[in-house]
Amino acid sequence: MDALFRRLTMSLLLAAACVSLFSPAARADDSLYQALGEKPGLTQITDDLVANVFSDPRIKDYFVGVSKKRLKEKLFEQFCVLAGGPCVYTGRSMKRSHEGLNIDRAAFNALVEDLQKAMDKNNVPFHQQNKLLAKLAPMHREIEERE
Ligand code: HEM
Repeated sequence: MDALFRRLTMSLLLAAACVSLFSPAARADDSLYQALGEKPGLTQITDDLVANVFSDPRIKDYFVGVSKKRLKEKLFEQFCVLAGGPCVYTGRSMKRSHEGLNIDRAAFNALVEDLQKAMDKNNVPFHQQNKLLAKLAPMHREIEERE
């Protein structure tokens, strides 16, 4: 009886472990990554963002001589990670990438607007746009060097 009870308890524990391992709640939340259109959608968004910043009269001077290809790749990886996608960010830290550029709040906001434009163009719903922006907002501390 005792052995039977122990076996029953073990099976129940195993079943519970399986349910929790394979239930959607146990997996990472990639809903934002999906809303951004996964790899093809996010590739288009970062391409559009980079095109916008390179032609934005408010900030384009910062990007003179910068490799578009590398910037697109690193932004893609970074946004993918932030959105819960299956990526790894291989670029430099935000502090290292932007030090010495003397970026201020106006320039930061201009880039955020360029990103919003890119997401609008790619039909990302407003509340999903806000989710990505909320993840980027705290980065201003590492990026801006003046008010
Ligand atoms: C949330 C805002 C921002 C994010 C997430 C971001 C992200 C990045 C990333 C991932 C890189 C590439 C790092 C690497 O090459 O390893 C980069 C580089 C760069 N960013 Fe930003 N950035 C932001 C804001 C800005 C702003 C506001 C400006 C200027 C207006 C700016 C100008 C640059 C420039 C010029 C580079 C190239 C630096 C170099 O190659 O030496 N970024 N940024």
